[in-house]
Amino acid sequence: MKAVSIQAFGGADALTVTDLPRPKTERGELLIRTLAAGVNPVDWKIREGHLPHGVTHAFPLIPGWDVAGVVEEIGEGCQRFRKGDRVFAYARKPHVQWGTYAEYVAVPERHVAHMPTSLLFEEAAALPCTALTAQQALGRTGLGAGGTLLVLNGSGGVGHCVLQLAKLAGIRSIATAGARNQEFVLSLGAEASVDHDRDDLAAAVTSRFPEGVDAVLDAIGGDPLSESVALVKAGGMIVSVAGMLDAAAVGSRGVRFERVSSVPSGEQLAALATLAGRKKLKPHVQKIFALMDAAAAQEESKAGHVRGKLVVAL
Ligand SMILES: NC(=O)c1ccc[n+]([C@@H]2O[C@H](COP(=O)([O-])OP(=O)(O)OC[C@H]3O[C@@H](n4cnc5c(N)ncnc54)[C@H](OP(=O)(O)O)[C@@H]3O)[C@@H](O)[C@H]2O)c1
Repeated sequence: MKAVSIQAFGGADALTVTDLPRPKTERGELLIRTLAAGVNPVDWKIREGHLPHGVTHAFPLIPGWDVAGVVEEIGEGCQRFRKGDRVFAYARKPHVQWGTYAEYVAVPERHVAHMPTSLLFEEAAALPCTALTAQQALGRTGLGAGGTLLVLNGSGGVGHCVLQLAKLAGIRSIATAGARNQEFVLSLGAEASVDHDRDDLAAAVTSRFPEGVDAVLDAIGGDPLSESVALVKAGGMIVSVAGMLDAAAVGSRGVRFERVSSVPSGEQLAALATLAGRKKLKPHVQKIFALMDAAAAQEESKAGHVRGKLVVAL
């Protein structure tokens, strides 16, 4: 099968289009013929050798954690899908080698869901990692209707899903974004936006929520995450998918902190597919690349200015 892989960690030029054997399904796995693969920042991070904690790897290594495509083979013990079904999945695995930048990928059936019929494969591939991460991180904030949320980086893959899911849950949000993305985050449901280059974060948040927010959902890390500690009400929650905070600094303000690492779930993805099918959750695809241009896609992701998602089409 045609795939993009690396033989060693390195720069974007380490990615080459290669011919590799089709992965074999193990018990409980489906073989999916990939029609589109979502591009996530973790892809270039893995390519450079920054593997998430606890993750092993082997070469040749095919990157990619998001797939939308068609079921090609049903592995032993699988029951919920048929050959030809249009599906999508968060194909994150504890051992990184056979990813989704390839014509075929084997994925545990329990991580797969039928994709919304109203979406293109390129749109469906933009959802699994980011929408599941958004859903799981939002869940950890403990917020319900009427709660207030500061979203740090509302315009990237995770943030643009967080804002839509928060709005659906009746959560009031304020989001940081660059100048060109102010309208974008407002269109997704944020009731106010903060320009991360020009505005003072504390002044912007307290002018909308004078007592601070109930929770922060961070998708950028660094200084904005540290600054946000002072903007959460006592007893509030900070959840990050991108950075870390010193537990002592947070605890002294009576605020809790949790770093979330999202996990695949076919069940949660099916619920998100229903929302997407009803157009209540819309993936924003900034650009679609050909498989042979996967290196350019990763360079663009690494530059850090993607609005929504990049996708590789096969
Ligand atoms: N823990 C997990 O399970 C998990 C899952 C998925 C992603 N992640 C991580 O979460 C982070 C976000 O990933 P992503 O895919 O959502 O988005 P991304 O591609 O990293 O974000 C791109 C967006 O960030 C905005 N941005 C850049 N600098 C900013 C700043 N200082 N403040 C606010 N926004 C800023 C850019 O907007 P402008 O161009 O307007 O500046 C752009 O729209 C990454 O570190 C990724 O690895 C973690």
